[in-house]
Amino acid sequence: MADLVIRNSHLVLPEGVVDAGLVVDDGRITDIIKDSGLPQADTIVDAGGNYVLPGLIDPHVHMREPGAVSKEGWVTGSKAAVAGGFTTVFDMPNTQPPTSSIEELAKKRELVKDKSLVDYGFHFAVTQDNLDELRNLSGDIASVKFYVCSTVGSLIIENDAVIYEAFKILAGKGLLATIHAENQVMIDYWMNKLKDSGEEITPLLYARTRGNICAADSLNSLIYLSKSVGVKLHVAHLSTREEVQLVRKFKDEKLSAEVSPHHLYLGLDDVNSMGSYSKVNPPLRSKADRNALWEGLFDGTIDMIASDHAPHLRESKEKDIFAASAGFPELETTLPLLLNDTHNTRLTIELIAKLASENPARVFRIKNKGRIEKGYDADLVIVDMNREKKVLEDELYTKCGWSPYAGRKLRGWPLKTFVRGRLVYDDGIIYEENKGLEVSYY
Ligand code: DOR
Ligand code: ZN
Repeated sequence: MADLVIRNSHLVLPEGVVDAGLVVDDGRITDIIKDSGLPQADTIVDAGGNYVLPGLIDPHVHMREPGAVSKEGWVTGSKAAVAGGFTTVFDMPNTQPPTSSIEELAKKRELVKDKSLVDYGFHFAVTQDNLDELRNLSGDIASVKFYVCSTVGSLIIENDAVIYEAFKILAGKGLLATIHAENQVMIDYWMNKLKDSGEEITPLLYARTRGNICAADSLNSLIYLSKSVGVKLHVAHLSTREEVQLVRKFKDEKLSAEVSPHHLYLGLDDVNSMGSYSKVNPPLRSKADRNALWEGLFDGTIDMIASDHAPHLRESKEKDIFAASAGFPELETTLPLLLNDTHNTRLTIELIAKLASENPARVFRIKNKGRIEKGYDADLVIVDMNREKKVLEDELYTKCGWSPYAGRKLRGWPLKTFVRGRLVYDDGIIYEENKGLEVSYY
């Protein structure tokens, strides 16, 4: 007798879609066989002829805990995750206090335990003066994050010598460096020019102070530094055509990149209507940039989609463009936006499984996740490709309660989400009794 059987499904396996059933025992996939051969089970789920994807893995979320639980926390944030088909998330270190010491990492672990509904991992932060902390790190983190520009939170590391030293330490340990690449000196230059001009500073002009060259120049320099010491480099929220070209040119097994939904599904054209809500770092970009990002996803230059879920309350967004907080909530809309696109673009369900599950598991070396395969964790999401529904802010679980995609009609939504074989989201209902675990790394 198995614990769980899922029948009547199109399984999205690494080698392609097959019509078959899944057998799950002790949270792991133990068999993939034709429905006619499925065993008896404690729970039998009829997938209704829908696709079953490997649970989505989001290597880039800001859960805001500790420090800003008025905006989000692991309880609400992980509800948003399961409602969006995510079964594993990695939290960014720009919390308050930041995750830049082994002591703070241990405290965050305690805080998250017993709260998260999804499995999870943590990014660590580098600062100007925590190289000793890096030396003492063990391998149980997703990566070390380098904020080379100032953004939400207090983290910034601007001195290339320190970056170089930190890269050397991480290279020695085989740990990944994740970068937020925007050149702060350039940003300051154009920002000050704009302020001096006396012009009214609109959200669009603000976005231009962080133009493409700021990201590309920073990435160019960081790729050079990474290659000179052999550290593995992961580019967070790649947003410009110039960065796509750079990553394509230097791509190897030590260089990976992610793109966020807002850089695919929002752009400079939306800035006027969104006002201060459009603020995000790096900023929204042009149509040409968005096209280049899609090309990068299709040709393998960009490895993955990462939501960069960065919730802020309306009151933090409804300020002038300088004072407004940067970032968007994304966990509940990323998968529907992608599924919707499979109906009218080159995007396929198989590619979604690669970009949102298999590749993040590979790059961040997560054990037993990212594939529907025997022996892997039964992290699964059943999606209804034909359900058509608008994004409604009232239905969101994120504490911030708004979405930049509100009102968009999307076709393709998650129906049921399983974390290690346990149903945590069932079409609008969340089961909170089972908690997530920290992932293991290989
Ligand atoms: O827009 C952003 N929001 N960019 C970042 O780098 C940080 C993030 C946040 O934490 O809100
Ligand atoms: Zn981020």
